[in-house]
Amino acid sequence: MSSLEFPPGFLWGAATSAHQVEGNNVHSDWWAWEQAGRVKERSGLACDQYRRFADDFDVAASLGHNAHRLSVEWSRLEPKEGEWNDEALAHYVEVVQALRQRRLEPIVTLHHFTSPQWLTQDGGWVQARVVERFARYAERVAKALGPLVRYWITINEPMVFLKMHYVTGEGPPGRVGDREVLRVIEHLIRAHALGFRILHDAAPREGPPPQVSIAKNLPVFVPCRRWYVPDGLAARWTDTLFNQAFLDAVTQGRWSVPGLGTWKLPEARATLDFLGVNFYGRQFIRWSLSSRRLPGGGCDLSHHRRDAPEQTLMGWDACPEAFWQTLRRASRLGLPILVTESGAWMADDAARWRYIARYLAAMRRAMDDGARVFGYLYWSLLDNFEWARGFGPRFGLVEVDYGTQQRRVRDSGRRYADVCRTSRLTMGSGAYSGKSV
Ligand code: GCO
Repeated sequence: MSSLEFPPGFLWGAATSAHQVEGNNVHSDWWAWEQAGRVKERSGLACDQYRRFADDFDVAASLGHNAHRLSVEWSRLEPKEGEWNDEALAHYVEVVQALRQRRLEPIVTLHHFTSPQWLTQDGGWVQARVVERFARYAERVAKALGPLVRYWITINEPMVFLKMHYVTGEGPPGRVGDREVLRVIEHLIRAHALGFRILHDAAPREGPPPQVSIAKNLPVFVPCRRWYVPDGLAARWTDTLFNQAFLDAVTQGRWSVPGLGTWKLPEARATLDFLGVNFYGRQFIRWSLSSRRLPGGGCDLSHHRRDAPEQTLMGWDACPEAFWQTLRRASRLGLPILVTESGAWMADDAARWRYIARYLAAMRRAMDDGARVFGYLYWSLLDNFEWARGFGPRFGLVEVDYGTQQRRVRDSGRRYADVCRTSRLTMGSGAYSGKSV
């Protein structure tokens, strides 16, 4: 059997987010959204990781991980505007110390979809004052965790956050008008840029400098009907809006989308030390007369197509070759790349492992093509609360019994552990070679 080697020092681990695993996140806007019955399931105790983090990190370390991504929950730190909960901040210091004690490199996300209830009730990310509010929060976290954390994600999937919370309304506060959507995009860029500077300015003078990025969901947009020109044009336009414009903003300080406008944002220029890439699959675009020219509402952003070679149980396309394409595209920015999320909910665990192996092979292929990937974080360590989809979807390397909170490592978690320990992927029969499926 052939094997694929990854470089020494490569970061291997998994990712989670506070609201999805911690439990009782009562001051967040998602908690209020759930209590109002806006989603089918409430997050409740989730995986109870606010209390069980040390045990879960023991499991991650036992599986050969050397890195772990998590998020800090803003609403725990600032449950009311201007009222700071120092105990909650001390909790996250303890959490990051627990990672360090287990030789797990922390990758810390400041904003992973949830915001404090008071913020969302007061205009949320539509109001320009969110930038300064986010900066105050970032300063507190940077000061407390800066000595312990090198890798930072300011905002997780800004364009998915926009789409879910301000366009489709799957999350709080719900749909807003087109003009407000554009203001949210601008405020996300400005908040990231200010967070980048704050994290750098607060970093200890000694030791390696902080490495700050976003976690950019970077799907490959393809036309549903390759023969139909409007679908192709819509796919390219959606890629500009969803991917390229945001990447241009945080690298060149300029946001531009045909038909929507061009902004100069000089303070956002060169605010990536690396690029965090979240990747799941392709997204298929179908132009229709009812298309609106804004994210999500404009095109039929369906995650799957009837003839997709393979889909996950989320109905998402599974396509290692698209992962290879995305990493090659990302490498054109000339920055190191960290895969901050990639994972699947599959019909069985063998299919999950095959998915992981094929994506790792595609990642190795992109590295052979020059992509400077320095780590891979599987989504997710644990089964967890999948937002509007509730607890049905199960992405975890570790299965969670939500009734007992017992954890059970899946076979895919053990197979991935072999890769983490050796930095080598042994290509068994049927595994993906990284080329087209
Ligand atoms: C996202 C988020 C995660 C999801 C994961 C699976 O990409 O939507 O970062 O919170 O749970 O991607 O959908």
